[in-house]
Amino acid sequence: MTTTVTAAATRTRRLTGFQPTGRLHLGNLLGALRPLIAAQDAAESIALIADLHAMTMDHDPASVRRHTLEQATVMLAAGVDPERTPIVVQSQVREHTELHYLLECVAAHGEAARMIQFKEKSAAGGPIRLSLLTYPVLMAADILLYDTTQVPVGEDQNQHLELARTLAIRFNTKYGDTFTVPEGVRPDSAARIMDLAEPTRKMGKSTGTGQIRLLDPPEVIRRTVARAATDQVGLVRRDRDNQPGVTNLVDILAELTGRPPSDTTSYATLKREVTDAIEAVLTPIRARHAELSANPDSVRAVLAAGAEKVRPTAAATVRRAREAIGLLN
Ligand code: TRP
Repeated sequence: MTTTVTAAATRTRRLTGFQPTGRLHLGNLLGALRPLIAAQDAAESIALIADLHAMTMDHDPASVRRHTLEQATVMLAAGVDPERTPIVVQSQVREHTELHYLLECVAAHGEAARMIQFKEKSAAGGPIRLSLLTYPVLMAADILLYDTTQVPVGEDQNQHLELARTLAIRFNTKYGDTFTVPEGVRPDSAARIMDLAEPTRKMGKSTGTGQIRLLDPPEVIRRTVARAATDQVGLVRRDRDNQPGVTNLVDILAELTGRPPSDTTSYATLKREVTDAIEAVLTPIRARHAELSANPDSVRAVLAAGAEKVRPTAAATVRRAREAIGLLN
């Protein structure tokens, strides 16, 4: 990917987005949260909870609110330091929706309708919300609002990131240099965490039955790992094509402990090691989460402070965009 960086962005500014459509799981921790926490010194980061995106499919209002607060609490419990990494709820910074509209004016219907995720989700049947179609444009607004230079994205979001780049470049070309053109970065962890029950699909918040949710009680986790799909091969090794389940367990263990499994060919031993490693990582997160959630107002205060902190940048971007596109400031 080539990058054109406007004068506004001289530093690395990272935006990591989470959608509060479900509870955070091990894949989110290893693929997104941990890299975010590890980069807190190196990059200016924002952790965005994209609550508006959670309303693009039929949704339950109480769940969206609950998941939003729970995700923020888990982020704090996992070690996101809100002093260095503002935790921002998308809907609490109104500039997201204002920029969304301005970007809709440079986006084509065909571009949005081509998105793989839109095609997949709209094929599910039932009425298709217009917001499902325009959601990648809102995601572009999320990114461009903060002069973001780097966006950690999994494969499923690549196409959306490309659209954000396209819209930024198009706007800049048509109306003058306004946006920093972001780059996608792969999370450092090479491993993709797969669903334990269906190891050929990525662990998802609202799909699959083999998720390890970060707040699951120990007995639930033990059971999920014990039931993880394996195979008849009888060898503990990485072979994604022929042994996707065992490979996933080996990857999870390596990610959690930084070392390969003990010298074993027993799947039972492997599963025990994985369970122990998960417990070692989740026990302190669970404890800290319990403390924090005893005082939800303190978490709300963290979110209010996060919005406050990023709002000046958001406001400046929208002002530039309004000026460029012909609105009266
Ligand atoms: N759409 C992303 C997902 O489903 C979440 C997201 C929303 C996001 N806004 C973003 C990711 C901005 C990166 C940048 O995972």
